[in-house]
Amino acid sequence: RAPDCTLVIFGGGGDLTKRLLVPSLYDLAAMDVLSRKFRIVVVDRTEMTPEAWSAHLFDEISAFAKDKAGEFAHGRLDKSVWQKMMKNVEFLAGDITEPEIYQRVAGSLGNDSAIFYFAVAAQFFGTILKSLGKAKLFEEDGFFRRVIIEKPFGHNLASAKALNKVALAHAREDQIYRIDHFFGKEAVQSMMAIRFANTLFEPLWRQEYIDHVQITAAETIGVEKRGKFYEGTGALRDMVPNHLFVLLSITGMAPPSSLAAEVVRSEKTRLLDAIRPIKVKDFVVAQYRAGKIGGEKRLAYRSEPNVDPKSDVETYAALKLHIDNWRWAGVPFYLRTGKRLAARKTEVAVVFKKTPYQLFKQGSADSMPNVIRFQLDPIRGLAMHFMVKEPGLEEVATPVQNTFRYDDFFKSRANVGYEALLYDCMHGDQMLFQSAATIEAGWAALEGVNPPKNRKLCFYAAGDQGPKEADQLLERDGRSWLPLI
Ligand code: BG6
Repeated sequence: RAPDCTLVIFGGGGDLTKRLLVPSLYDLAAMDVLSRKFRIVVVDRTEMTPEAWSAHLFDEISAFAKDKAGEFAHGRLDKSVWQKMMKNVEFLAGDITEPEIYQRVAGSLGNDSAIFYFAVAAQFFGTILKSLGKAKLFEEDGFFRRVIIEKPFGHNLASAKALNKVALAHAREDQIYRIDHFFGKEAVQSMMAIRFANTLFEPLWRQEYIDHVQITAAETIGVEKRGKFYEGTGALRDMVPNHLFVLLSITGMAPPSSLAAEVVRSEKTRLLDAIRPIKVKDFVVAQYRAGKIGGEKRLAYRSEPNVDPKSDVETYAALKLHIDNWRWAGVPFYLRTGKRLAARKTEVAVVFKKTPYQLFKQGSADSMPNVIRFQLDPIRGLAMHFMVKEPGLEEVATPVQNTFRYDDFFKSRANVGYEALLYDCMHGDQMLFQSAATIEAGWAALEGVNPPKNRKLCFYAAGDQGPKEADQLLERDGRSWLPLI
C-alpha cells in the first residue's frame, strides 16, 4: 500500500487530469493500494465544488472508457471504488500565477506529505515551481514533498536546462519526478526484464550481431482537438526526445548493476550521451495531407481545427542516429513517428545480421531473417523472426515468426499507463522517471535538427506508410522499414 499523501493537482479541470491522471488513480483505488488517508487537492481557475468536479469527471471518464473499450483496466467504472478515491477532495479556485493560491495550498497541506502534479500547459511549469519554492512548499520535516512534471520538458537544450535550473533552485533532484507515460506502459517496463532476466539476448546485443534497430511510434489518429498545442510543438518535440528516446535508452543501455533509480538512470543517460549529433541529411520531417484510413476520409493537417492553413509544422519525423560506444559502433538506429499513418504501432525491432554464408537456398527474398520485435502498443508482446526449412524435397530456408502475447499469458487487463508511475512516486522510487541529465542528453543529441522548421517539409497522404523521403533514408543504406500493418 502507498504511504499517506495528498495529491495536489494544478490544472484539475484539464484534459490530462481526465485522460490519464484520474483513470490511473481509479485503477490504484480498485487495486486497493491507495493509502486510507489519500486526499486530493484540486487547483483550478474555475470555481467548482468538489462534488461537482468529481461528478463531472465520473461522467466524462465513463464515456471515455466506453469509447476505448478494453483500454480501461477495470472495465466499467465502479461507483464504490470511485467514491473511495474521491472521499477526500478539496477544491481551491485561484490563479496559479499569483502567490495567494500557494498560501492556501500550504494551509491545506499543513504537515502532510504531498505530490504536486502539473497538469497545465508547459509554459506554467517554471512559475509553479518558483511559487511552490517561495511558499516553502518543498520543505520537508518528517513528511515528503515531491513534484511530478509532465512533458514537454523544455523545447530544446537551452530551455530544458533553464527549467532544470529553476526546479533545482527550489527542490532537490530526488524530489523532482519528470514523467513520461511510455515508461508506464507495461510492455515497455518489461523490455528491461526481457533483456536482463534472460541469457538468451544479452550476448547477441551488440554490433557483432545486430545490423540495425528500428524504433516506431505510428498513430492513425490526427491532432484531434490539440491543434493549438501541436502547432507550437510538432512531431519532433512531441515524441522524439521523450517517448522515442525512452525506447532507445532501454534498447541500447548497458546492463545496470542494480535496479536502484540512480544506477538505471545513469546507464540510460550514458547511452543518450553517446548519440552522435544528428545531421540534417539523416532527418526527415513531413506533414499529412488529406487521405483515407480504413476507408474513411481524413482531413489534411492544415484543415484541422486551430491549425494555420499554411502551417509548416511536421506531423511526422524520421531520423537515423549512431551511438558512439563499443557496443553499438556502426549500428544505425532508425526512428520514426507520425500521425495519420497506415496503422497504429509502437514497436522496437532489432534486426540481426545475415549469416556469414548462405548454406540454404532462400525461399523468399526476405532480407531480414532474424528480427526481435518488442511490440508495445496496441499489441503487447514479443515476436521473433527466424528461418526454418521449408517442407519439401529441396533444401530451402524460409522465414517464420513466433509470437508471445501478454494478454494470452497474463490475466491482468491493460492499464492506463500512469498507475505504476504514480505508485512509484508515492513510494519515492525514481527508476521510471527521467533525471535532469537524461533529459538534457536527449535534447543535446537533437540540437542540429531542432527546431525542425528550417528543414525541408515533405508530405504524405493520411493512411500512407509515411513520406517517400523516409523510405529513401533507409534505401540509401540498402535497408527498408518494416511495414506498418
Ligand atoms: C503524447 C503525445 O505524449 O503521446 C501525443 O503528446 C501522442 O501526441 C501520445 O498521441 C502517444 O501516446 P500513446 O501511449 O497513445 O502511444
